[in-house]
Amino acid sequence: MKAPNKVIIQLEHISKTFRTSASLFKKNQKEVIALKQVSLNIYRGEIFGLVGESGSGKTTTGRLIVKLEEPDDGKLLFDGKDITKIKGKALKNFRRKVQMIFQDPYQSLNPYLSVYDSVSEPLVIHNVGNSEIRKDMVRESLNSVGLTPPDDFFYRYPHQMSGGQRQRIAIARAMVLKPEFLVADEPTSMLDASIAIHIFNILSEIQKKLNVTFLFITHSLAAARHLCDRIAVIYKGELVEIGSAEDIIQNPSHPYTQALIDAHPRFRY
Ligand SMILES: Nc1ncnc2c1ncn2[C@@H]1O[C@H](COP(=O)(O)OP(=O)(O)OP(=O)(O)O)[C@@H](O)[C@H]1O
Ligand SMILES: [Mg+2]
Repeated sequence: MKAPNKVIIQLEHISKTFRTSASLFKKNQKEVIALKQVSLNIYRGEIFGLVGESGSGKTTTGRLIVKLEEPDDGKLLFDGKDITKIKGKALKNFRRKVQMIFQDPYQSLNPYLSVYDSVSEPLVIHNVGNSEIRKDMVRESLNSVGLTPPDDFFYRYPHQMSGGQRQRIAIARAMVLKPEFLVADEPTSMLDASIAIHIFNILSEIQKKLNVTFLFITHSLAAARHLCDRIAVIYKGELVEIGSAEDIIQNPSHPYTQALIDAHPRFRY
């Protein structure tokens, strides 16, 4: 438990409703309440798990934190500073510090870019180094995800790689700027179990080496318990539990958490 560390991410009463209109005249307009008054602190250096069933609001929470989505209500703080409304230079600066990897690596990889171009792109966008320095940074990042020797991968394209390799490239791209905070949204749910374990190990090594703070999103309480320092359980857009994995499993306060525990009989030794 690294709880005494400083808070890096703070959500204060965040709410988000999606409105979809079926026609131009807004007949059949539907509202989906994705998040209701979500408040949450994530401490620097910890791996924080967000667990919940499909549609509970996990991805929306991740996307709000990396500012791919705006809340309707509530505040988002990074390092104690309100970043709910930041724009322009401040937003670009924030984007250097936080990254997100997705369930489907194609959400972060452009299929028309080679591995080298994909992984070096964030360095170009943020104007980091010259071409030689960038090459070294790309090599370091590919090494850290186990794609070695890195130069052998430079000119490959995503479709020429396996799903596991594609996810490693997406992680290498996310890590090349050495972010302070990483959201990993079910990064292994499309992969075979044996490959998923490799990806978990890579994430866990990177976390230790760079002391990056992680928000790990999963539908599996067992996976979260294995990897995370603390866990929040989200149910229909509301946080229903928050605490250490052991406390939650020993003392679930919400029936949905009990249902998650019952789904994994090995929790009840
Ligand atoms: N862009 C959008 N437009 C309309 N509705 C959306 C949008 N994004 C999410 N939603 C809805 O908001 C709710 C929460 O979605 P979200 O993707 O956050 O769930 P999730 O917990 O990540 O689910 P999953 O485990 O299936 O990935 C769902 O009902 C979803 O249909
Ligand atoms: Mg999701």
